[in-house]
Amino acid sequence: MTLFLLFATYAVILSAALARAGFRSQSAASSGAPRDRPARILIVGATGGTGRQLVSQALERGYAVTAFVRDASRLAIDDPRLTVVRGDVLDPASVDAAMRGQDAVLSALGHRRYFYPARILSQGTRNILRAMEASGVRRLVCETSLGIGDGAFRLGLYYTFFTIPLILPFYFWDKARQERLLAASPVDWVIVRPAVLTNGRKRGRIRHGRHVGSFLLTARIPRADVAEFMLNQLESDTYLRAAPGVAG
Ligand SMILES: NC(=O)c1ccc[n+]([C@@H]2O[C@H](COP(=O)([O-])OP(=O)(O)OC[C@H]3O[C@@H](n4cnc5c(N)ncnc54)[C@H](OP(=O)(O)O)[C@@H]3O)[C@@H](O)[C@H]2O)c1
Repeated sequence: MTLFLLFATYAVILSAALARAGFRSQSAASSGAPRDRPARILIVGATGGTGRQLVSQALERGYAVTAFVRDASRLAIDDPRLTVVRGDVLDPASVDAAMRGQDAVLSALGHRRYFYPARILSQGTRNILRAMEASGVRRLVCETSLGIGDGAFRLGLYYTFFTIPLILPFYFWDKARQERLLAASPVDWVIVRPAVLTNGRKRGRIRHGRHVGSFLLTARIPRADVAEFMLNQLESDTYLRAAPGVAG
């Protein structure tokens, strides 16, 4: 019983710390007026679950897409408007090279090194932001997660009291750092915080905003719907410098 109480206390303190460490909205989202549509977009994390959805849906929408990948064989998408650039987000020179000539960036960066402190998300995001400033690229739409900043305590009891404190504390701490870097950046950023991701088919039914997710139950959303929502943020200022949660 004592052990259980100690663990529950640790879990609550961790989520409270993630709430403080991540981005917290100061004000409501701005007007949703349509903005100029970018033509050329760079997708980081293009070989991942969300990333592949971003690439195929962006091509369907008519964008000229550059996929930033470590291993091109993992992408398996062929299209005349797709350019594949090899690089590593931790290598600033490769990020700079991919950034030149782009109008906007989408990041679905993630990894599986859960069990030791890693800075892949924050250091990678730092390199992306620096390259954007150097090349004059204005807009970044970046996928993080519910469970951080004002999205803390919104992934349901199971994630708050089991998955995050036991499996993902380092990962979520790095996500909070990633959000802080974005919040401090002068670029036009949008943080997208999904609920738990699935590989289900696109449903087109997306709940979004500050109040998505709940303390008790774990909400889910297909990666395909997250990609659709992220692409929508290229053409709308509704969530400019804000961090909406998204769930199905
Ligand atoms: N799983 C969930 O339920 C959940 C819920 C909410 C939010 N999220 C977050 O949503 C994001 C996307 O998740 P996902 O599961 O769709 O993605 P994912 O399948 O984990 O893919 C991550 C992508 O990041 C790339 N990457 C990793 N390290 C890199 C590096 N050093 N340089 C360049 N690229 C690198 C990977 O490339 P390789 O193919 O080369 O490895 C891959 O393309 C993640 O940040 C994740 O934490 C996940």
